[in-house]
Amino acid sequence: MGTHGDTAITTSGGPVGDHRRLHDLLTELRRRSGALSLRRINSVCGVFVGHLSEIFAGKTAPGPDVAVKIAQALKATDREQARARFYADGVEADRSAQRAGDTRRERRPGWDGSPYLGLPPFEERHARIFYGRRALTARLLDRLRGHPGSAGVLLVLGPSGAGKSSLLRAGLMGSWAHDSLAPGCQFWPRRVITPTSKPLRQLAIHLADLAGGDAISAHEALLANPGQAHLLAGQALTVADRPPGPAGDATASSVPRLVLVVDQLEELFTLAIDPGERDRFLTALHSMATVPVLPDGRPGALIIAGIRGDFLDQAMAFPSVRRAAEAGVVAVGAMTESEMREAIAGPAAEAGVRVPDDLCTAVLDDLRERRLPVGFDSGALPLLSQVMFVMWQTRTAAGLTVEGYHRTGGVADIVRTSAERVYDTLDADQETLARQLFLHLTTVTEGKLTSRPATRAALRAATGSDETNLVIEAFAGQRLLTVADNDLVTIAHEELLRSWNRLRDWLQPSFTDQALHQALTDDQNWQQRHRDPSYLYRGGRLVAVDDAVRRWTGDPGQHPPSTR
Ligand SMILES: Nc1ncnc2c1ncn2[C@@H]1O[C@H](COP(=O)(O)OP(=O)(O)O)[C@@H](O)[C@H]1O
Ligand SMILES: [Mg+2]
Repeated sequence: MGTHGDTAITTSGGPVGDHRRLHDLLTELRRRSGALSLRRINSVCGVFVGHLSEIFAGKTAPGPDVAVKIAQALKATDREQARARFYADGVEADRSAQRAGDTRRERRPGWDGSPYLGLPPFEERHARIFYGRRALTARLLDRLRGHPGSAGVLLVLGPSGAGKSSLLRAGLMGSWAHDSLAPGCQFWPRRVITPTSKPLRQLAIHLADLAGGDAISAHEALLANPGQAHLLAGQALTVADRPPGPAGDATASSVPRLVLVVDQLEELFTLAIDPGERDRFLTALHSMATVPVLPDGRPGALIIAGIRGDFLDQAMAFPSVRRAAEAGVVAVGAMTESEMREAIAGPAAEAGVRVPDDLCTAVLDDLRERRLPVGFDSGALPLLSQVMFVMWQTRTAAGLTVEGYHRTGGVADIVRTSAERVYDTLDADQETLARQLFLHLTTVTEGKLTSRPATRAALRAATGSDETNLVIEAFAGQRLLTVADNDLVTIAHEELLRSWNRLRDWLQPSFTDQALHQALTDDQNWQQRHRDPSYLYRGGRLVAVDDAVRRWTGDPGQHPPSTR
């Protein structure tokens, strides 16, 4: 939901309040004086032109004495001069409060609580323990800087578990600072939302909150006229507390914009959402991101939407999304080895705990061994995150050690417990579906169990239940299943096949069937074998074959064609 971190200073009062008031006052005085040039002001009050330029751009606030000097140079009344001093005093007080805070930060007490999160994504407040994504965050900011308004929403794409949510929340929003995007952008209003099953209502609530209006009328406006959503965005900007105004020397880049992150855009397709609402929501986002409302002719909102790759197809049925995709997406891919090392060791370091190199290596080896032959894939981060979380919980006075890692059962046990947790949330029908699903996603060949991807559609057809997607989503949500761009559903980690005993129990009949099938194939030439009655199945063996045949016909996907 809306992560509004400590650094999002968009509320009234506080440092922004006085800084903005002072800036507005000086800007107004300057306008009234006939837009005196900075050089002229300098010649009257002696304040350096460079400093004046920063002040009128809203990048910095003058101290009380300087503020009064500038006001005098601009022929302010006594009352106005007093107001300038009053605001500048306010800024000064906030500055010293902030300095105290900075000193606190410099001493950097250890991170409070576990520095590892397990399966959930990182939020903005986790920015400090978010490691391994520096380069990607920088790339995302670069893309935002050059993002043309005409392109609409900037799409951030990747498979489930790749780290999209974490990148947007802890990476992008968490590193949002004074000039991460543009001078003064720390003053811009910004929000993180997810569509939920009522996306338009979500949007209305946040826009109304930013604009100081009421959510009901915002919702009505969006419902009736989603293409006018840019007006709501504009309203949010008018009200937002910010230093630079359209007048004065504010550079184009410091004209504030509304920054909206829509995480998990795929919810538009995974949750039961009225198609009309989905349509309106996308229209509203598009108009906010494309229709010019700023004095400099740019659209009011910068919108960044994270979407799971396997939903891009569906989303691209909407022209606005297609246009956004055509403008180029930011892909969230696997980390490099050194980034992985950072992701393992960085968080503990924040909590004052060292991760020894041999532990890093052990974890990385396990992750790599069980993944692709080269490097890591998008399934690695959840496992890493979960295993480090459990290690942290169970660490001893010796700290984080290889021994401790092995005690947790390593990557293997992590997966089993996570899987059981999801399974426990299912009702009886869904449990049956889960069993069918996993059976379809595995295959036993030559007595060996392997993962076998299947498309969503194939799984739905095989189980014959509308709830199949729900169950897929439940496991995908905990990253036990991954769904790729081409809609291919895969067991997220081969480890699941090895370590989830419930799954092994389910698969046991398959092992038996394999043996039976082998026998049947061997017996296929019974007729040619002179119809010898001793070859006929009887008693227990006949029952077993009947059983197997029922399973094979019931679960056709589970068995390779040769077994049918
Ligand atoms: N930089 C990181 N370091 C460690 N773990 C991470 C990092 N980024 C993501 N993760 C973990 O990976 C898993 C998936 O991350 P998430 O952001 O939810 O991915 P997505 O939104 O793409 O599905 C989560 O368990 C999360 O904690
Ligand atoms: Mg996500």
